[in-house]
Amino acid sequence: MHSGVNLIITLSLDEGKVVRVSGPASIEVLSGELLISGASFPPPSKLIISRFRSYGVKAVKRSELKVILGDGGSVEEPREGEEVVDAWLDLCSRLLNYSKPLRVIILGPTESGKTSLTAFIANQLISKGREVYVVDTDVGQEDIAIPCTIGVARPTNKFIWLRELQPIKIKFVGCTSPQYCLTQYVTAFQEVVSELINSGSDLIVNTDGWVTGPSALELKQLMIKLMRPTHVYVLSDEIYEYIRNSLRGSNIEVVLVPRPKVVRERSRDDRRFLRQQAYSKLLSNVRRIKLAINNIVMLGSCLLSGRRLDVNELINYVKLPQEACNNVLYASIYGNTLNLVLRRGTSVCDLSPYSDNLELNVINEGDERGLLVGILDGDLRDVGVGIIDSVNYVDGNIYVLTSWNGSIGGLILGKVKLNEKYEEVSRVSKCLL
Ligand SMILES: Nc1ncnc2c1ncn2[C@@H]1O[C@H](COP(=O)(O)OP(=O)(O)OP(=O)(O)O)[C@@H](O)[C@H]1O
Ligand SMILES: [Mg+2]
Repeated sequence: MHSGVNLIITLSLDEGKVVRVSGPASIEVLSGELLISGASFPPPSKLIISRFRSYGVKAVKRSELKVILGDGGSVEEPREGEEVVDAWLDLCSRLLNYSKPLRVIILGPTESGKTSLTAFIANQLISKGREVYVVDTDVGQEDIAIPCTIGVARPTNKFIWLRELQPIKIKFVGCTSPQYCLTQYVTAFQEVVSELINSGSDLIVNTDGWVTGPSALELKQLMIKLMRPTHVYVLSDEIYEYIRNSLRGSNIEVVLVPRPKVVRERSRDDRRFLRQQAYSKLLSNVRRIKLAINNIVMLGSCLLSGRRLDVNELINYVKLPQEACNNVLYASIYGNTLNLVLRRGTSVCDLSPYSDNLELNVINEGDERGLLVGILDGDLRDVGVGIIDSVNYVDGNIYVLTSWNGSIGGLILGKVKLNEKYEEVSRVSKCLL
């Protein structure tokens, strides 16, 4: 085992040998041929291994390689049973016999290798000239697009991490785990499936690690029902048994796939950092767009979709001192919820509804800043993502930051707020807009 700060190592690997490389590291192939992430790298390939990743690296031919290890990086010889590269290659060779379009879904707990297996299979299929769509439904650790969305890519060149791919489709979900917005998640997934299922290309679906408990697996079953996979690959014995039992008598091939036993794990902070990086990739090169509230579709807004109340009406619902009326910028009601926006820096003491049934949702001007939104075109199709910069309730405009430069027909509001550094500030539990 080697580790240290910028340690340079030259390695000779016999044909068939597998080593485990953990980042940060770079690998230069001097001779022979390496297989990483299911893709072949002949000389003079140079690869960068992120500090958040480790890989089983196989010498397809006798190879010489130069490895530079950054702080915390390592090259190790795996012990018997730790590595899975050969098992994953076998799996792919069976898949490649399949002449019809493949539809593969990959299930497993966190850190089990779902994302890596997705990339591995995609590379293997691409190398044989097949057309592949990769769907990343992991809204928490989304690598193709950004968190809170389902991203689709159609890779044509080899890659070692889904983060290298460009999204060709982004479906907005709005939160970082399907359990917090199940309907939005299922709808987004269903849209992706319906748009891709008859493409004639292979489809590989990566999923999130929410697999504990029946509702988590019920969701996975629903995804299976929606995409009708040819193969379900499962990276855990327990989940495998559950899914296999639930698909008894179907034509779907449910396969237990071995997971790598020793991997670079990511802490909660690492995951937060990776999300921030993904947000800033898609949101840093943005323009500020003005949208007229009266002229756009707005999904998920309680405030703007409720019936607007002017001050004269409002005072029938809440006890509001006369001088405080000027501080109310916008008010609306739907059902038994009354939404109020107060001018920045103001507050109203003793704001109490006349009816016990009425719930007050008090929003402060500016609370909406940083709210993640999906951008829709005029036909309500997802076309991009953005963040709310501000709402001007006086002139009736919403200002959105987005890199989408086509026309905008509407917004879907998410449940995540970002700060200026694209860090998640909070999961939004109340309605802010
Ligand atoms: N064959 C392998 N050998 C060593 N490490 C590996 C191998 N395959 C994957 N890894 C590493 O294992 C870790 C977990 O893999 P991966 O990210 O694919 O899992 P995951 O199930 O998608 O996790 P999450 O649920 O967090 O998305 C990563 O650091 C990855 O680089
Ligand atoms: Mg993953």
